[in-house]
Amino acid sequence: MAFRKIFTQHNNEKNCHTLAFYKKQGGYKQARKALKKWEPDDLIEEIKASNLRGRGGAGFPTGVKWGFVPKNTKKTKYLVVNADESEPGTFKDRVIMEKNPHVLLEGILICCKAVGIQSAYIYIRGEFVFATQRLQHAIDEAYKAGIFGDDCLGSGVKIDVTIHRGAGAYICGEETGMLTSLEGDRGQPKLKPPFPAVEGVFGCPTVVNNVETLGNLPYILEIGATAYRAIGPAKSPGPKLFCVSGHVENPGTFELPMGVPLRTLIDKHAGGIWKGRKLKAVIPGGSSAHVLAAEECDVAMDIESLAAAGTMLGSAGVIVMDETTCMVDALLNVMRFYHHESCGQCTPCREGTGWLEKIVHRIAHGEGRMEDLDLIVDVCDRMVGKTICALADAAAFPAESIVIKFKDDFVDAIQNGGSPAWKRRHPTAVGGAASHG
Ligand SMILES: Cc1cc2nc3c(=O)[nH]c(=O)nc-3n(C[C@H](O)[C@H](O)[C@H](O)COP(=O)(O)O)c2cc1C
Ligand code: SF4
Repeated sequence: MAFRKIFTQHNNEKNCHTLAFYKKQGGYKQARKALKKWEPDDLIEEIKASNLRGRGGAGFPTGVKWGFVPKNTKKTKYLVVNADESEPGTFKDRVIMEKNPHVLLEGILICCKAVGIQSAYIYIRGEFVFATQRLQHAIDEAYKAGIFGDDCLGSGVKIDVTIHRGAGAYICGEETGMLTSLEGDRGQPKLKPPFPAVEGVFGCPTVVNNVETLGNLPYILEIGATAYRAIGPAKSPGPKLFCVSGHVENPGTFELPMGVPLRTLIDKHAGGIWKGRKLKAVIPGGSSAHVLAAEECDVAMDIESLAAAGTMLGSAGVIVMDETTCMVDALLNVMRFYHHESCGQCTPCREGTGWLEKIVHRIAHGEGRMEDLDLIVDVCDRMVGKTICALADAAAFPAESIVIKFKDDFVDAIQNGGSPAWKRRHPTAVGGAASHG
């Protein structure tokens, strides 16, 4: 199947965000078909057959998730679109909402028809002011054109969509935290089961899907599940947005087939490592993923290949670090983030993220001890899989992998009075503070 960009093809064209532009490209044809011709169960089967996997981080099969929603419930069913996008290194959903918001709205209609949903919320990250404006404009246009409302596209089907703005908390991207926040409570995750598909927002069955996941739906209906499955690896196929940031010549969001080699993504699309330097490390799936050392980077960017390489595709936020990067400083930056964002409900996460930041901080600041290296791995071991949500794992994965794979940087900081960046800022302190180690 020839690859076609479904999100970014027209991003540089004037008015690409408008309904008129979207319709000119054939927009809303698939939603019309879904609303008027497709039976809900057939739609779910088609999405299952496409092998579409969630683009929010966990990679769960979308059609399978929809199939978990009870069919004969008297409760209202909801769709909540996860547009919180706070994973460090990730900037793809924002690009869709700013440049091509109607593809998300069309995906919402298809999902709602498949699952029998009349109310959709888009939970959008609070800092995304421009994306919110663009999305609201698109929703207003769509209501005016009869695409949403009591009689969507003349099909007799009623579907409403509402934007809800978050207040800038990473944890509200975790689905149960997001639903709690949407209900008006503190955005704190809940234990699963029950899963949102059975008991979600307001205690009702709720589909939670990522912006990019839903944006794939019109294309799947357009070309059919079989053709879609042929784009990239059959187990996790489709067009994919990869966000490349860090030490590259041309950072940005690149739409490519799933399974593109990581080296091709960095060297061809992102222009290679900047300033002619060498690659040192890549975190391939947002900061929550295990790090890859340069020699491990001959890997395909898809769910199975990255899992086999000991890391994950996650949100496809590819953070590239060149040979001058001090991995102690890099890890401190990441640990500060997770400590700040932990919601504090679970002891292993609240204390673990705090201790990880403290230990890495003291290594970076010339007060580290050799036994801190084992201690970091031990703290991580006490966090992974032992908490309500996966934020604790998300902090532990980069920590343990960076310390193990880049031990030399940590030993150097411990033995020589701190990380290079800290020593540059505090030249007179060099060598003094490490003496107690
Ligand atoms: C700490 C944490 C943060 C998350 N942040 C996001 C996010 O910003 N956006 C997102 O779509 N999913 C995020 N997720 C994943 C969601 O919980 C959920 O799996 C996803 O929205 C489901 O949609 P999908 O199946 O379409 O991927 C996060 C998960 C965790 C544990
Ligand atoms: S793992 Fe961390 S962020 Fe998740 S619920 Fe527990 S304390 Fe909160």
